[in-house]
Amino acid sequence: MTTPVIEAEELGKDHISHFLRKRFTAVDRLNLQVMRSETYGLLGLNGAGKTTTLKLMLGLLRPTRGRVSVLGYPAGHRRALGRIGFLPENPYFYSYLTGREFLDFAGQIFGLPGAERRKRVQALLKMVSLTEAAGTAIRKYSKGMMQRLGIAQSLINDPEIIFWDEPTSGLDPIGRRDVRLILLSLKEQGKTIFFNSHLLPDVSEVCDRVGVLHRGVLVGEERMANITGGGGHYRNLEDYFLDCINRAEEDGKAVPKAG
Ligand SMILES: Nc1ncnc2c1ncn2[C@@H]1O[C@H](COP(=O)(O)OP(=O)(O)O)[C@@H](O)[C@H]1O
Ligand SMILES: [Mg+2]
Repeated sequence: MTTPVIEAEELGKDHISHFLRKRFTAVDRLNLQVMRSETYGLLGLNGAGKTTTLKLMLGLLRPTRGRVSVLGYPAGHRRALGRIGFLPENPYFYSYLTGREFLDFAGQIFGLPGAERRKRVQALLKMVSLTEAAGTAIRKYSKGMMQRLGIAQSLINDPEIIFWDEPTSGLDPIGRRDVRLILLSLKEQGKTIFFNSHLLPDVSEVCDRVGVLHRGVLVGEERMANITGGGGHYRNLEDYFLDCINRAEEDGKAVPKAG
């Protein structure tokens, strides 16, 4: 784990708020490195800037300031795009297709030849427990099934790096467990995984390292082992997370003195 495969340097993004009609900074001076085979969880409250960060890494948004590279290429470079997988926050599906047809279509986009594609689709359906539902139209899928299909789609090109945006949000406890188990098996395969979440219990079991993003600023970064490993001064991930946010708020604002 010595080569950074994702590297953000002084990365910043301003959005135009249509509501307030002015620019505001969604991500500010972000410095972050993810090593090969590492599982990194970017945590933050809603609106913290997590999705913006992920989109910058994928090249879906252009940085206002700074740089970000993936696998040694500037974000969005086509040589890197073929080697990464992406699960968006709200995946869009052609609902009249079956699960199998959708994955086959995703494989075609990556130019996988027929025989290899069929093998890969079969293996992924099995991995996300959708073999039995493979011939059913997606519009009949539950939220959990759709999320698992989105996960399978993100793996169709056997990517080296997996970018997942809120993989467990909107799922019931069983759906969340399923996603966690898939994540753990990918981790065992040595994949690099970068994901966003605001659901702390889903993160603590799977991450090697976490970052806490608050109002666009990385206000904490730590190895999970130092947070939950005992001996440290945090009881659990939630404790660490709240501590980071509270400290950032205190540093950023004048705190009225008592008395
Ligand atoms: N395309 C956009 N245009 C304008 N504002 C945006 C856009 N995308 C996100 N934002 C705003 O930027 C902030 C960060 O959003 P986001 O990155 O989606 O946060 P998170 O994923 O952590 O919930 C929010 O205030 C959000 O409303
Ligand atoms: Mg988001």
